[in-house]
Amino acid sequence: MCGIVGALRKNANVVDFLTDGLARLEYRGYDSAGIAVHNGDEIKRVRRVGRVQNMAQAAHAKNLTGHIGIGHTRWATHGGVTEPNAHPHISGGLISVVHNGIIENFEAERERLQALGYEFNSQTDTEVIAHSIHHEYSQNGGDLYRAVQTASLRFHGAYAIAVICADDPNHMVVARMGCPLLVAFGDDETFIASDVSAVIAFTRKVAYLEDGDIALLSASGIETLLDKQGNVANRNTKISELSLASLELGGHSHFMQKEIYEQPKAVADTAEIFLDGGFVPENFGETARQIFSQINSIKILACGTSYYAALTGKYWLESIAKIRCDVEIASEYRYRDVISDENELIITISQSGETLDTMEALKYAQAQGHKHSLSICNVMESALPRSSSLAIYTRAGAEIGVASTKAFTTQLVILFGLAVTLGHLRGHVSDEQLTNYAEELRLLPGSIQHALNLEPQLSAWAKDFATKPSALFLGRGIHYPIALEGALKLKELTYIHAEAYPAGELKHGPLALVDENMPVVVIAPNDNLLDKVKANMQEVGARGGELFVLTDLDSDFTETDGVHIIRTPRHIGVLSPIVHTIAVQLLSYHVALVRGTDVDKPRNLAKSVTVE
Ligand code: G6P
Repeated sequence: MCGIVGALRKNANVVDFLTDGLARLEYRGYDSAGIAVHNGDEIKRVRRVGRVQNMAQAAHAKNLTGHIGIGHTRWATHGGVTEPNAHPHISGGLISVVHNGIIENFEAERERLQALGYEFNSQTDTEVIAHSIHHEYSQNGGDLYRAVQTASLRFHGAYAIAVICADDPNHMVVARMGCPLLVAFGDDETFIASDVSAVIAFTRKVAYLEDGDIALLSASGIETLLDKQGNVANRNTKISELSLASLELGGHSHFMQKEIYEQPKAVADTAEIFLDGGFVPENFGETARQIFSQINSIKILACGTSYYAALTGKYWLESIAKIRCDVEIASEYRYRDVISDENELIITISQSGETLDTMEALKYAQAQGHKHSLSICNVMESALPRSSSLAIYTRAGAEIGVASTKAFTTQLVILFGLAVTLGHLRGHVSDEQLTNYAEELRLLPGSIQHALNLEPQLSAWAKDFATKPSALFLGRGIHYPIALEGALKLKELTYIHAEAYPAGELKHGPLALVDENMPVVVIAPNDNLLDKVKANMQEVGARGGELFVLTDLDSDFTETDGVHIIRTPRHIGVLSPIVHTIAVQLLSYHVALVRGTDVDKPRNLAKSVTVE
């Protein structure tokens, strides 16, 4: 969702950094963009609805230059997608602000500021921040840092803000509460961003701010940093390992295509955690052995694709580790009465590590007395791993396409590794079985590679889907979550209505929808449920429905009228859902190409959902 960048450069113009940084944050999802730059005399601003590129052209046309500036990509929450609502916001020609997050008490604050004579030019909560800081600044005799400190005491909600002031072309103040913000250091230049991908083309030296931090920055770095309690604090500088190549297309047409093709490597890199390190609790954190020996059940909280990873993981955790596992959508869990259990391990799964609903669900679980938590996350240093007792990172690398692909399959690898680890620790997995599971994991990247070779066949299917208003995905057992993920991918990428059902549930409702206009995708691996799935397919065939069957090389299907078959590699056993995922990803990708939709940035969606 919204993205923040900012820069202070002693010897260079900041505009190129700001526009490049915002372009690198585009993947998060946004609908308007803007920058504000201090040119030595005053703050100049350019904002545009639509792409960063348009805004950047306008900034160059207006000859915007300066040594200090801030920028923002906005994803509308308070107020429509309009230029007046785009950031940066300016108060009294003096204070300019960019903001991520939501100020929950903005209506009351707006009334207060209106009574003080402030006029509002937008419908945003952010303008409240700008006026509030302006007011404190005018009251305290022109101390920007103190103005941000005092004003922020009034803000309820989550925010990351960057503030510049027309009176001071050498300093910027940043503050963080609940939304990520980092400071990055170059030679005589300091940058800020909500996401490390915005800065790594310029520097890899970064320090992550913590909740409650307020920092005064100059081109030389951090001049003052006070924490939540108002004490002087230091935040460690780290060298980011994110590769620049992962942020570029590298010959592919779309990031999604690139990321689908990166899966053999991403899965192999993630599997290495267990293949090199063994299926040992220590992979999950120093205290994992002790925590794992205390727990008697697991609850997984997640959203979107990560939720479907959790649903898949439940099968492994219950069948391999023999531990009870519940899975819940984070936004539901956080608002219901829950029964606390200090021996239940709360697992959150999140690519970004900053999904607000997942974060709040974790906080809620902790407040209800859950002692142990584990975060499975892709983005280093993000909010969820930092708030959990244990953490393990998928090694997917940066995922830019809004529709998650390699993050999902690598999450599955971690969940499988967790199931085997717990199974061994709890005495349900013998040493011999451990060796077999390791072997299956070792062979997985090769099977994924084979599944990628099915692209031409899946692309041929895509033409049949592209003109249809809806599609149905069916699966059974551990492949049912993959049907759910397939339907999600299709609707995200192509805007075709798609639903997934456990195949056995077909006759209890969705069968009424089946006719020749409803393609039915069936995930039918050669496992113990194959005969059941075949019976469900008969039910579809008998109603004139067209079947698109994803099965394995060794299953005994024959293609007939109305039954199309694509065979993934030989059935690989317990890891089969990961291989079948590749097929549903490629299918949706190709339907999107036929329909000409924006593959990497589907309409209305965002990569990181940092609002409720
Ligand atoms: C958004 C993204 C999805 C993602 C979901 C959860 O909706 O568009 O691709 O699955 O958020 O995100 P997370 O970062 O928590 O995995």
